[in-house]
Amino acid sequence: HSEVARVRNLSYVILGEHIIEPWYFSPYPIELTEEDEIYICDFTLSYFGSKKQFERFRSKCSMKHPPGNEIYRDSKVSFWEIDGRKQRTWCRNLCLLCKLFLDHKTLYYDVDPFLFYVMTIKSDQGHHVVGFFSKEKESGDGYNVACILTLPCYQKKGYGKLLIQFSYMLTHVEHKVGSPEKPLSDLGLLSYRAFWTDTLVKLLVERSNPVLYKKNNPEIEEEEDNGLTPPTTVAKPGDSSEITIEEISSITCMTTIDILHTLTTLQILRYYKGQHIIVITDQIMAMYDKQIKKVREKKKHELDPRKLSWTPPL
Ligand code: COA
Ligand code: NA
Repeated sequence: HSEVARVRNLSYVILGEHIIEPWYFSPYPIELTEEDEIYICDFTLSYFGSKKQFERFRSKCSMKHPPGNEIYRDSKVSFWEIDGRKQRTWCRNLCLLCKLFLDHKTLYYDVDPFLFYVMTIKSDQGHHVVGFFSKEKESGDGYNVACILTLPCYQKKGYGKLLIQFSYMLTHVEHKVGSPEKPLSDLGLLSYRAFWTDTLVKLLVERSNPVLYKKNNPEIEEEEDNGLTPPTTVAKPGDSSEITIEEISSITCMTTIDILHTLTTLQILRYYKGQHIIVITDQIMAMYDKQIKKVREKKKHELDPRKLSWTPPL
């Protein structure tokens, strides 16, 4: 792709009240990128070369939230479902904005095959875009996310994990499993790994009696190194809460590959007496406690699946 090689073409983007420094090239019209900075309305995502033009537009613009349907709302965020075919201009504008922070995805023109799930937060002015993910209307590869972005002014505050959680909530309603489109960016991979780890740690600790599975329990010795050989059963000896990878998959909507990969990275998948088992180590318990503490101290927001009002589009 010739565009990938092109250098960053804007110094600043003024998005609503935020000043953002782009990371990569994005194909905004050449007349605008000559200006060095552009102004973007954070409701319509329309772009302007001067502050004057932008303010003239804003004084006439009455849009206060993204187009499409609001399909989720809680005390902190809302989600909107937007059809690329029905809201072509808005979605193209979103993709142009997104491209400023992604170097490898090149979708910005053909938005028709995608749905866009946009997360907003509310102020007196309206619902401001914080981030989004796109999703193919029909993915032959089982992807439940094509592209995902938290606008830089909102990054590293947990919004990325909310977007990911929401993508799996939709997959749950669809009775499917899903995984993000590859290749993921470095930041995308970090965020997914963190989300998958949180999800599995919570599920496994809450499912079992952890006392039995401390690392230093002499009963549980590693008998054989294992990589990603897919086990059919993950059993905890003597425990009634035996669980299979497939069950974990149907509960979390994560693919078995993503589950196995995460368990391997966490080094808790062991081979014991001819069976694969998951060992809940002290480290896992510490991760669990940390997660619970964050939620309790309200440092971590969690979405409530009961607040989702959505049926899969036909
Ligand atoms: N450095 C180190 N770790 C980071 C990080 C960074 N810059 N950004 C995120 N992480 C880690 C965090 O540690 C966090 O894990 P933790 O909660 O266990 O600490 C996890 O990733 C998720 O962070 P969160 O704040 O929920 O994510 P975010 O709102 O910053 O959004 C992306 C994450 C990937 C959506 C965001 O970085 C982004 O939009 N990047 C540009 C576009 C992109 O690369 N998209 C993915 C490919 S399509
Ligand atoms: Na999940």
